[in-house]
Parts: sequence; structure tokens; C-alpha cells
Amino acid sequence: KLAEYNTIDDAAKLLRSKKNIMVITGAGISTSLGIPDFRSQGTGFYDKVRAMGYEGGEDVFQIDEFDRDPTIFYSLAGDILPDLKRFSPTHAFVKLLQTNERLQTNYTQNIDNLEELAGIDKARLIQCHGSFATASCRKCKHKVLGRAIFDDIRKQRVAKCKRCIQKLAEQPPPRPPLKKRKSKLTLFRKNDWEDSSDDDESAYDMPQPGIMKPDITFFGEKLPNTFFDRFTEKDCKRVDLVIVIGTSLKVAPVSEMPNYLPHSVPHIYISREPIAHVNFDIQLLGECDHIVYELCRRAGWALKHEMIPKD
Ligand code: OAD
Repeated sequence: KLAEYNTIDDAAKLLRSKKNIMVITGAGISTSLGIPDFRSQGTGFYDKVRAMGYEGGEDVFQIDEFDRDPTIFYSLAGDILPDLKRFSPTHAFVKLLQTNERLQTNYTQNIDNLEELAGIDKARLIQCHGSFATASCRKCKHKVLGRAIFDDIRKQRVAKCKRCIQKLAEQPPPRPPLKKRKSKLTLFRKNDWEDSSDDDESAYDMPQPGIMKPDITFFGEKLPNTFFDRFTEKDCKRVDLVIVIGTSLKVAPVSEMPNYLPHSVPHIYISREPIAHVNFDIQLLGECDHIVYELCRRAGWALKHEMIPKD
């Protein structure tokens, strides 16, 4: 689109000259740490899910599916549980933009929370798809620290709401519904009603505690309000460069963001595969950790971070 920007040197120049850089990140910035992305063939989380016999990979994150049967999510979520103590060079790159007072906002789709570990200011970070940092009850909305259910996730055990459990314990047990012995048309005395407590449990629903769900945004759920407010009301108006890293841009509304920004703002894409459905001025293809190193080198900045050794 913008004829003047084509090469990695142009990208490095832009880095040096722009002051309000929006960075949009996806799962690709954490794969060097061993966290799978979602859609890479063979290694992505959704292929893994399908290999385990669950046909629709994305269904793991469908809110209706979760409410119908949370065991599927709980049996698979251990694979993407953020328990890492290190971040990637690409996270360090975003932090460097912040240190150099160039980072406007990092919009991340990632739920691994590694931006926080890398030192990105909360005020400059929008976790578009939420994160594992907290979890809430689907029934009573009780919120806890995400860590509180990590053990359940690791053990593939559905986490139930402790507050619901406590409330149920405090309540008198519900009276099983009365069952009429005689047909409606016959007269009956009080004794003709019988207590059905010995009956099959399926005859009535025992109150159940709610199920805990990490506060990551599932398909069918709203994105956090901070996302829309910040993007449309503030950042869109001031951004002077957008860098999109390690995302296939397949999931709306994040996938719509680059096209929504003014065309006069240069767009850079850094990822393994080229992208066709969004117009970028510069596409830098390869391992993002290597590309950001090279970009910084050409911009005259030192990116201090250990390379992640390949296994
Ligand atoms: P995807 O898996 O769709 O895309 C990751 C992109 O990063 C792919 O295009 C990869 O080629 C690329 N990639 C992977 N490793 C890389 C590396 N080391 N260097 C450079 N590129 C690399 O993941 P996202 O776009 O983040 O939603 O997925 C978006 C959303 O879809 C996720 O947030 C998730 C999922 O459903 C929820 O969890 C709610």
C-alpha cells in the first residue's frame, strides 16, 4: 500500500522514527518456549486436539460446549497452561519498545500471561482474549486467582466452585419432589403421597456447584470492554506504526484491527507464513525471535535476551 516501505531496513527505520507503535501479538511469539500455537499444521493445539479424537478443534473453546461438557476442556487445557518462568526474545522486543518509549499498546491474543513476566506495563497491555490469571464460576460468578485451579487442570479434573459448594453445604438438603401414587382423577388422602427420596436420582435435579472456567475468552463470549474502548476511542487516533507478530489473524475482532487502522499508518507483519487476507506494507517471514533481533540490530538497539535453544 505505502510504496515507500518494503524492506527490513525500512522496517528498522520506522522503528526508530515512530513513537506510538501498536503491537498485535499471537501464539507464534511463545512457540519458541515450547507452548504450541493453535493452527500450525501438525504442531498446533487444534491438530493435537483432533488427534485425540475431538473432531472440531476450536470446540474446546466454545462456551456452549464448555457448559454442556467441561471435561473436554479440562482434559486438554493442561497443554496450554502457563506455568513458564521465562519469556521469549519477542516478548523482550516488545518490552524494549516500551523501554525506548515507543510502545503505544500491546494487544495480545495470548492467554499465557508472559507479557507480564516480560515486564510490559499493565497500562500498555490489552489481553484481548483474557488470560489464565483469574477464573470464575459459571453459576455464581465467584472469581478466584487462576492458580487456584491449576492443579485441577493439570490433573484433568473439572474444578468446581468452592463458594457454591460451601453455600450448598449450609443449605438444608432440598426436599425431593413428591410423587403422586394415585391417578389425578381419584380422590386421595395425605398418606397417598409418598416420599420419593429412594428413587432414582435422575428423577429430579440435585443442586450442583458451578463449574470454574479460566477467564479466557471463549468463542461466543464478549471480549473485555477495555479492548474496544481503548482501540477505537484512543489508540486508533494516535497510532503511527502497527507491528503484527505471530498470529494467523483468523479470529475476529483482532483479525479486523489492522484494516481498521488508517491506511497512512505503516503496517508490518512478522510471522512464519505470508498472509494474503490482510494488506501489509512489509512482511518479514521466518522465526519471529530471529527477525526481531535483526530488526533491532539494524535499528542500532541492543536486544538483550538469551536465544531459546532448539531441542
Ligand atoms: P495461530 O496458531 O492461529 O497463528 C499463529 C501464527 O504464528 C501462525 O501463522 C504461525 O505460522 C506463526 N508462528 C508460529 N510460531 C512462530 C514463530 N516461532 N515465529 C514466527 N511465526 C510463528 O494463533 P493465533 O493467531 O494467536 O483463542 O490464534 C488466535 C486465537 O485463536 C487464539 O487467541 C485462540 C485461538 O482460538 C482463544 O484462546 C480464545
